Amino acid sequence: MATWAQQAAREFTDAFGGEAAFAADAGGRVNLIGEHTDYHEGFVFPAAIDLRTRVAARPRTDGVLRIRSLNLSEEVEAVLADLVPPPVADWRAYVLGPFWALREAGIAVPGADIVVNGGVPFGGGLSSSASIEVALVAVGAALAGRDLPAIEIARLARRAENGFCNVPCGAMDQMASACGKEGHALLLDCRTLTFETVPMPAAWVLVVADSGVRHAVAGPEYANRQKECAQGMAVVRAAFPDVAMARDLTMERLDGLKARMPEVSYRRLRHAVTENDRCLAARDALVRGDGATLGRLLAGSHESLARDYEVSCAELDILVAAAVGIRGCVGARLTGAGFGGNTVNVVEAGEAAAFCDALARAYHDRTGRPTTVRVVRPAAGVSVTCLRPMQ
Ligand code: GLA
Repeated sequence: MATWAQQAAREFTDAFGGEAAFAADAGGRVNLIGEHTDYHEGFVFPAAIDLRTRVAARPRTDGVLRIRSLNLSEEVEAVLADLVPPPVADWRAYVLGPFWALREAGIAVPGADIVVNGGVPFGGGLSSSASIEVALVAVGAALAGRDLPAIEIARLARRAENGFCNVPCGAMDQMASACGKEGHALLLDCRTLTFETVPMPAAWVLVVADSGVRHAVAGPEYANRQKECAQGMAVVRAAFPDVAMARDLTMERLDGLKARMPEVSYRRLRHAVTENDRCLAARDALVRGDGATLGRLLAGSHESLARDYEVSCAELDILVAAAVGIRGCVGARLTGAGFGGNTVNVVEAGEAAAFCDALARAYHDRTGRPTTVRVVRPAAGVSVTCLRPMQ
């Protein structure tokens, strides 16, 4: 049995006594490029990572859910049949939402005792919430006697975040967490949810650097970006009925409509259009091992996110500016929703340790803030293990 499953089984016994029946494990994600494009049905290029959430569960027969967070040392208890989206989503919404989504999909979980151990830093832009949702949908489905494909797990996990936590996120995080492949990134088409697995060149590693600034996708800014884009898209659709989403738009068409939409909507859509192109070009550069091009694309992405989408912050800009001056850095940009959280850095493998030290020092010198800079490995998607036969 995998080590994570043994650990999850032990954590369950320590928390509740007795034995768990199932364990599940799902990664956070790092996004290489293709930021704020998923809800425009565009392309994204994330990888599941080796920072992960593990859960273990034992079925109950009374329709009650008892879920303990080992990170917070808190517990929530709820009756499955009574679950309704809360007015404000706190950690409880993220652990109950998956069971609401399973119930809405007609998948009958009998009730359960569950421990959750989150190993993805919270609020760091590495999708701690998606890893929790994906692991819980997976274990919930197992308790219901269902073997769901990873993509279905991702869909339900996103449904939990959209419908129960009231966060209008796109498909990227849950898809990466559920469908990841060791040593690979996923070029994901967010319109069709089809993806290509692209091997990470052995010469490069991924490094994430934490600004220490915490953001919440549940905050108003994330939803505001979507509203500003929607205003511009109303103008676009009226002019070009064949354009359903920003993903279908070209810069030529957008420029032609510039005077007819609010300036801010134009800039937001310019990001969506150019970022989609950068994402596809970055996939090609990664496959060719063309570091110079990849570096330029990552820089262009950060710049566009900072200027056009306005989702960067001083600390992320400092991390990116410092990183590109350090030996071995192929490219750097903010990753995830922005407003804080982590940057992603593509770094020559042989320089990774020195790069991490130098970046941490540079960031501290310039901001007075500590940071965690670490190598993350592209990892597998969700897995579920049966710990003992169900009675
Ligand atoms: C968050 C959301 C994703 C995506 C990114 C930005 O991580 O959950 O769906 O929109 O922001 O690319």
